[in-house]
Amino acid sequence: MDKFLINGPCKIKGKVSISGSKNASLPILAATLLFDKPVTIKNLPRVRDIDTMLNLLKSLGSKIILSKDRKTAKIINKKNMKTFASYSLVKTMRGSILVLGPLISKFHKSKTSLPGGCLIGARPVNYHLSALKQLGMEYKIKDGYILAKSSGRLKGKTIKFPKISVGATEQLLMATVLSSGKTVLKNCAIEPEIKDLTQFLNKAGANIKWSGRTCTILGVNSLNQTSHTVMADRIEAGTFCVAATLAKGNLQIKNLDPKIINTEIELLKKVGAKIQTLDDKIFIKGPDKIKPIKNIKTKEFPGIPTDLQAQLMVLMCKSIGKSSITESIFENRFMHVAELQRLGAKINIQNNKAFIEGNNKFIGAELMSSDLRASVALVLAAMVANGKSIVGRVYHLERGYEDIENKLKKIGVKIKRLK
Ligand code: EPZ
Repeated sequence: MDKFLINGPCKIKGKVSISGSKNASLPILAATLLFDKPVTIKNLPRVRDIDTMLNLLKSLGSKIILSKDRKTAKIINKKNMKTFASYSLVKTMRGSILVLGPLISKFHKSKTSLPGGCLIGARPVNYHLSALKQLGMEYKIKDGYILAKSSGRLKGKTIKFPKISVGATEQLLMATVLSSGKTVLKNCAIEPEIKDLTQFLNKAGANIKWSGRTCTILGVNSLNQTSHTVMADRIEAGTFCVAATLAKGNLQIKNLDPKIINTEIELLKKVGAKIQTLDDKIFIKGPDKIKPIKNIKTKEFPGIPTDLQAQLMVLMCKSIGKSSITESIFENRFMHVAELQRLGAKINIQNNKAFIEGNNKFIGAELMSSDLRASVALVLAAMVANGKSIVGRVYHLERGYEDIENKLKKIGVKIKRLK
C-alpha cells in the first residue's frame, strides 16, 4: 500500500486547477442507465470511485468509450441490459446504490447489493427504499441484496423525505423522470451536485422543476441523446482554499464557479483569509494569524459541508484560540481526531462536538488514513507540521482527489510517494 512522505512546514504558492466533481459524476453516470440513445459525459475526474462506477455500468451491459485522457465517456446501452449490481462492486463504493432507481424505473427489476456499513456512520438506505416503494417498487432483502421489481412504470406521487438526504433525493429524481404522471418530492437536498444532475436530465428532455426544497417531476417516455459537462468539485476547491489559509499560502484556484463555495469563502474570510473571486477563479491569501471560530457546524447545502469538516478541524488546530466543530450529518465522522492528536493536536470530543484548543505546534509523525476527507486533512496537517510525516493508505485519497500528489507538488508541498 502506497504512502505519502511529507516534509513540513511547506510554503504554498501558485495555481491549481479544480477537476470535475466526483459526487456530481456518480449520479450522472448512474442516470445514463435511463437512456436508449448514446450519452457523452465530459469533465469526469480521474479518481477511483469513477472507475468503480464505470465498471458497474459495464457489468450491467453499457459500452463505454473513454477519451485518451479518460475524462470523457461516451456511454451506449444495449437493448437487453443486466439488472444485477454485485456486492463486490457495491461494497467498495456506497454511491453504487444509485443504480437501483434507474434500473427499476427503466427495466422494472433489479438485484442490487446493500452497501453495508461505513467508517463515517451507519449510512442506511431506508429513505431510498421507502420512497421507491411509494412509487410502486416492491422489494425484499435477501442474502444482503435488495430484490426489487415493479409492474411496469413507476407511478408519480407526492413524497416527503423524513430527513434531507443527498443520495435519496438523487435516487428519486432518477427513478421518476421516466415514471407515469407527476411526482412531487418534498424536503429534498439541494446540493449543487443535485442541480447538475437536474440540468443533465432536463437537457435530455426530462421535465424537472425546483422550488426551494421541493422538486416536481413530470414523467416523460424517453430521454434524448445528449452530452453534459460535469460541474467542478466544490470539496476539492474548498480543500485547496483551506490549504492556502492554513499555510499562509497564495493560491489562484481555477476552473470553478466560486458561487458553489460561497459559505466556505465567507467562513475563511472570518478566519482571516484575503479572498477575491472572478467568474471562474478564486485568489486566496492565508493570514499570518488564523482566527478561531467558536461554533462551526456542518449542515446540508447551503451550510458548511460535512465533507470539509476534517480539513476545517486542522485549520482550527492552528488558529489562535479556542474553537468547536459540531458534526451534524454523520454520527462517526471524527476518525481523523486520534491521528491529529499524534501530531500534537488538542481536541476533546463530546458526542458529535469537537472542542479544539488552538495554537498547536504540530510535529511530524506517522499517520493512518481512514476515509477520503480524513486522509486529505492529514495531508494538510502534515504540510504545516515540523519535520517528516508519513500518511499511510493513500488509496483513500485516490478515491476522490484527482492527481492530488502532483497538484500539491506544483504549489510547493514537499510530498513524495513511497511504494
Ligand atoms: C452524499 O452521501 C455524499 N456522497 C457524501 O460524500 C456526503 O458526505 C453526503 O452526501 C452529505 O453531504 C456522494 O455524493 C456519493 P446523505 P449520501 O444521504 O448521499 C442519513 C465524500 O467524502 N440517511 O445526504 O450517502 C445518513 O446516514 C462523501 O465524498 C439515512 O438515515 O449522504 C446521514 O446521516 C462521503 N437514511 C444523513 O442521512 C437514508 O436512506 C445524510 O446522508 C439516507 C441517509
